[in-house]
Amino acid sequence: MVIVDDLHLVKDIVESCDYQRRHLFNAVIVALLSKAHAAGQRLAFSTDNAPPPLANRAHTWDICDFTPADYQAICSAYFDPAIARRLDFGEIHRFAPNLNAHQLRKASVWLSHELGADTARFIEYLTTHNLASNVEIEEVEPVDWNDLRGVDDVIEALEAKIALPLEDRVLAAELGLKPKRGVLLAGPPGTGKTTIGRALAHRLKSKFFLIDGTMIAGSANFYSSVNRVFEAAKRNAPAIVFIDDADVIFEGEHGERGLYRYLLTMLDGLESESAGRVCVMMTAMEASSLPAAILRSGRVELWLETRLPDEAARASIFRDKISCLPATIGAADVAVLAAASRGLTGADLKAAVEDGKLLFAHDKANGKQLKAPEQYFLAAIETIRRNRRTYTKKKRPQLTEALSIGFKAE
Ligand SMILES: Nc1ncnc2c1ncn2[C@@H]1O[C@H](COP(=O)(O)OP(=O)(O)OP(=O)(O)O)[C@@H](O)[C@H]1O
Ligand SMILES: [Mg+2]
Repeated sequence: MVIVDDLHLVKDIVESCDYQRRHLFNAVIVALLSKAHAAGQRLAFSTDNAPPPLANRAHTWDICDFTPADYQAICSAYFDPAIARRLDFGEIHRFAPNLNAHQLRKASVWLSHELGADTARFIEYLTTHNLASNVEIEEVEPVDWNDLRGVDDVIEALEAKIALPLEDRVLAAELGLKPKRGVLLAGPPGTGKTTIGRALAHRLKSKFFLIDGTMIAGSANFYSSVNRVFEAAKRNAPAIVFIDDADVIFEGEHGERGLYRYLLTMLDGLESESAGRVCVMMTAMEASSLPAAILRSGRVELWLETRLPDEAARASIFRDKISCLPATIGAADVAVLAAASRGLTGADLKAAVEDGKLLFAHDKANGKQLKAPEQYFLAAIETIRRNRRTYTKKKRPQLTEALSIGFKAE
């Protein structure tokens, strides 16, 4: 008998070439099976997904998903019995129901050296070691809800309808809570959509999966990468798939219709129980730039809108960023700045603060007479407005419209 281990890895290599080699892999498998059959030999394959020729011709056995008792059996091999008894494998299984034996062994070996290891620590380990997420959390700028101003209603909805059902496993199990299936986060550029994604990534850690423009630009196998993200999210359900700038992805050069149809199926919930617990959150500058079928069908269950910050929100953004600076510049009157920055986005305000600091530093370094601190920021605001006017004139009509809608919002 010949055993072929990890057949899916061979398939990945064959199919990840830059030029089309579709069906080549299946042709090789067919030839191999025929040869073995003629020679009276047996072949045993292990794979995560049987390619069609194997599924048709071979006997197949599925290895079922692990139960809490399986988790216990595997982990107990590495833990001191006293620690193993302390661990609530039902709870660990509820948190991450699709861990494989490698992951369980790794976690157990690591934690077996900690005398105080308990269920909470086990779950913390799973969370911080990115067992499933495709996001390197260390590389995501650390943000939390407090960094975002003027979007309290959005944050409240996200807390109640997404974060709570994902985080409070006991309450979620008791009440059968499910995070929303489809969420749309729409708003003008620079109003905090990606930042909300970053905050969620830090909050939900291994339960957070990201699809963004880099996947399209960076890979010849866009669909298989997207599919892999969804598969990983389903395995780690409940989980969230965050599709940043979905409007840009859909309108992509080649019109990513495959992704769009795939999403419809995902959101339809015709899939398994675990897929039902995957929340798909899309961001877009305007809801109307997403394919109509997604919006019409009721597949988006929660609509959230990020807006331009109002005067109070602008004042707190300035306060956050300026009051920590040395007094010569940090004493700037934020009320004046807030009043002068009507219509600017959160991103613009951040840029105004950075530019104002540079102008101040320039004067200081050149020994010039220093102005009142807010003057530097007001000059920066004026430059941003000027750039905005030139930029808006040159823009495609679609985008101009998005901006003007945003301006009217206040
Ligand atoms: N409401 C806000 N409060 C505080 N800071 C904000 C706010 N909105 C945006 N910012 C800041 O502006 C910057 C840009 O925001 P972000 O990238 O999240 O915008 P976006 O909505 O994703 O824009 P785009 O549509 O262009 O992708 C971030 O650094 C963020 O901290
Ligand atoms: Mg963004």
